[in-house]
Amino acid sequence: MILTKTRTLVANYSNLQVKAGYSVKIDDNEIALFKVSNGNVFAIENRSPHPKGGVLTEGLVSGEFVFCPVYDWKISLADGKVQAPDEGKVKTYQVEVEGNNVYIII
Ligand code: FES
Repeated sequence: MILTKTRTLVANYSNLQVKAGYSVKIDDNEIALFKVSNGNVFAIENRSPHPKGGVLTEGLVSGEFVFCPVYDWKISLADGKVQAPDEGKVKTYQVEVEGNNVYIII
């Protein structure tokens, strides 16, 4: 079976504010999109892995991490890993920036 990936245009790069979280829905995927201070754009699942499942677009961004607004878990935007002493992982999505177009590939 061949799995084809879909590239979805989700944002205009220059309109994205640094450290703001944008929610994007592609099919059943609830995604949080962030542009960090160095200009990189990341997309992760928009739910903390904690049982309370905080919404990560409402989190505080520092460097390439987001802090869950509910219990302050520190989650890497690059690989989705929750940082110690907590543990867990959120799904990450591939992002492509081409000119001013920001795409998510699923
Ligand atoms: S909901 Fe608990 S750390 Fe996010």
